[in-house]
Amino acid sequence: MNTPIPPLSQRLRAATRASHRRLERSPIMARLSQGRNPALADYSALLAALANPMAEFDRAIEAGLNSHPDAPAYRPRSPLLGADLAALGARPPAPGPPGWRPRGPETAGVRYVVEGAALGGAVLARQLGQRFGPRADPACAYLRIGEGLAPDHWSLITAWLDAYGSRRPEHGAAVIAGAVKAFEQIEQALEDP
Ligand code: HEM
Repeated sequence: MNTPIPPLSQRLRAATRASHRRLERSPIMARLSQGRNPALADYSALLAALANPMAEFDRAIEAGLNSHPDAPAYRPRSPLLGADLAALGARPPAPGPPGWRPRGPETAGVRYVVEGAALGGAVLARQLGQRFGPRADPACAYLRIGEGLAPDHWSLITAWLDAYGSRRPEHGAAVIAGAVKAFEQIEQALEDP
């Protein structure tokens, strides 16, 4: 008897668990969430490091929406990152050299990563509030994006991914590869922010 394949959202979580753990433990995240003397400059460096990968992810997700008319509405992250950097008096980084361009089903995996990051963003925003007080508030639009989304937004995302996975099981591997690659891009960007 064939074992049923788990829903796509569960496969995505399993495939990216180790990357998520590495990201949470990356030096810059650790400094911001547990370090003794976190500096707003660390936070600014984090936002700047995320800016170029997120710009590419926004582009790919928005292009991919054409093939996914049933996907929940998407709010691009780049303008929020730009506004947060401006609130800290920092400029967005110059665009990097052309890198990975997610295509086709990979973009659904990228969407999983970008939307999931909002869950951790809320946690990090609370920690920054405790550490920096109101100074960080005006620069937390990206981390707090979840507050402006419907309360069931994440369930809508996982339900959409699961429905896509059942409808197009042959795309599952590419969706997962897209998520793994998106995590790698972020890890790389955070290696030396
Ligand atoms: C850019 C960095 C990050 C990315 C790309 C990211 C990505 C993700 C993804 C994809 C999920 C969904 C997991 C699932 O399928 O349930 C998630 C959940 C979560 N992340 Fe992150 N994350 C990031 C940073 C962080 C940080 C720094 C923290 C901690 C401060 C964190 C804490 C969490 C928490 C608490 C959840 C929810 C887990 C749950 O409710 O089951 N994340 N993140």
